[in-house]
Amino acid sequence: MPAATATATAVAAEPSVCAPLPVLGRDVAVPLVTGGEVTYAALDQAASAPALQRVWDDVAAYAPYYGSVHRGAGYLSQLSTDLFENARRTVAEFLDCRDGDEVVFTRSTTDSLNLLAAALPDGCEVFVFETEHHAALLPWRRAGRVTFLDAPDSPAQAVAALERALADRDPYGPALVCVTGASNVTGELWPVRELAAAAHAHGARIVLDAAQLAPHRAVSVRELDVDWVAFSGHKLYAPFGSGVLAGRADWLREAEPYLAGGGASRTVVRRADGGVDVRWHETAARHEAGSPNVIGAYAVASACKALTEAGFEALAAREDALVCAVREGLADVPEVRFLSLFGDDAPRVGVLSFVVDGWNSSHFAAALSAEYGIGVRDGLFCAHPLVRRLLGGDTGGAGECGAPEPGALNAIRVSFGAGTPEEHVARFVRAVRELVRDGARWTYRTVDGRCVPDASGRA
Ligand SMILES: Cc1ncc(COP(=O)(O)O)c(C=O)c1O
Repeated sequence: MPAATATATAVAAEPSVCAPLPVLGRDVAVPLVTGGEVTYAALDQAASAPALQRVWDDVAAYAPYYGSVHRGAGYLSQLSTDLFENARRTVAEFLDCRDGDEVVFTRSTTDSLNLLAAALPDGCEVFVFETEHHAALLPWRRAGRVTFLDAPDSPAQAVAALERALADRDPYGPALVCVTGASNVTGELWPVRELAAAAHAHGARIVLDAAQLAPHRAVSVRELDVDWVAFSGHKLYAPFGSGVLAGRADWLREAEPYLAGGGASRTVVRRADGGVDVRWHETAARHEAGSPNVIGAYAVASACKALTEAGFEALAAREDALVCAVREGLADVPEVRFLSLFGDDAPRVGVLSFVVDGWNSSHFAAALSAEYGIGVRDGLFCAHPLVRRLLGGDTGGAGECGAPEPGALNAIRVSFGAGTPEEHVARFVRAVRELVRDGARWTYRTVDGRCVPDASGRA
């Protein structure tokens, strides 16, 4: 084959990298303590991502037609009901759900997993790795028994650990495994398909926490063979208060409604003895009592369409390039240590956590913000057991989510999304290098457990 053809073939095989998707806030300028303004670099997208421009435009176009859902005879109520139910179908397509799966609109991943926890059959055992976000670690207290599995060193070890734990359980009782698709701390991808196979081989079911996966990779319920999947609209560029729980209908249909109220009930009648008899819906509506958040659901559906049209291969290729730019840009800075369970080269989404020798992470994050206009997160990222393990155990008693205590050992997280421009990542790399080399140019103090720039000025 001539050389030119070989090159063309190699280039064609690479997934093409797309341009950043337009998001709201891309031109917002923020002041620097050192003077002047810069465009805000939103590099905390694992916490919450800005709305896609497309989502915002869709919501704005629909807003004048807003009406009540499932409870009005008027034209706009009918229209809104149609949009709400179409949004359900769009999400089912986005997740490649099976026939008969339900899509329940919730408030968030936390809400979705709590809903599923409330729907567990009696005596259900739950298996969960200690590495999970608290939203996936904590809702299971009502389960028959919860087994917390130690952090694995590799994806293969994760599967082996789950196999071992499931082998010991009562094979006839119900069981659920809860696992993340991508870690909110390390960004690493978990072996979901293999874990699902292990769960099913032992008669257990599995729920995928896709809060960090769905914004970055295609999620197919069918291919991964997971029983349920949960994600949040606000991490999927649709910050309008909706989340999703999708998957098998049976446990959901047999459970008590998550909330009791209108919308979940089909008929309510007074009994002769003065009590009340209720017949509940047997569809997703059973767990959606109250007036549904139609704008939130519509926004989620709009984001699902926008991401599908952009193509996850191109989005992931772009994000890989950004991750590479950070790793390579900081490779010769020994003070910067990235956190990882499965090794530095493990496949990951655009989420990286690190510590900087000699720096309190809260101080470092405050300097990135005040001196460079870069928004990252510091703390334990609502995954305390995992971050403690990665930091070597002692985190000096860092406090609750978002409020690390002064002097506590915690980490810094930088995370990208579909709208992150290269310039933000280049600025981040430059800022980290300068701070490590030259120190902060401003003085900082601790207020309510957070480092903030001192009004008194330059260092
Ligand atoms: C992996 C993971 N699971 C669950 C959650 C909870 O999501 P939410 O706060 O939207 O409920 C988060 C949030 O950061 C997350 O990263």
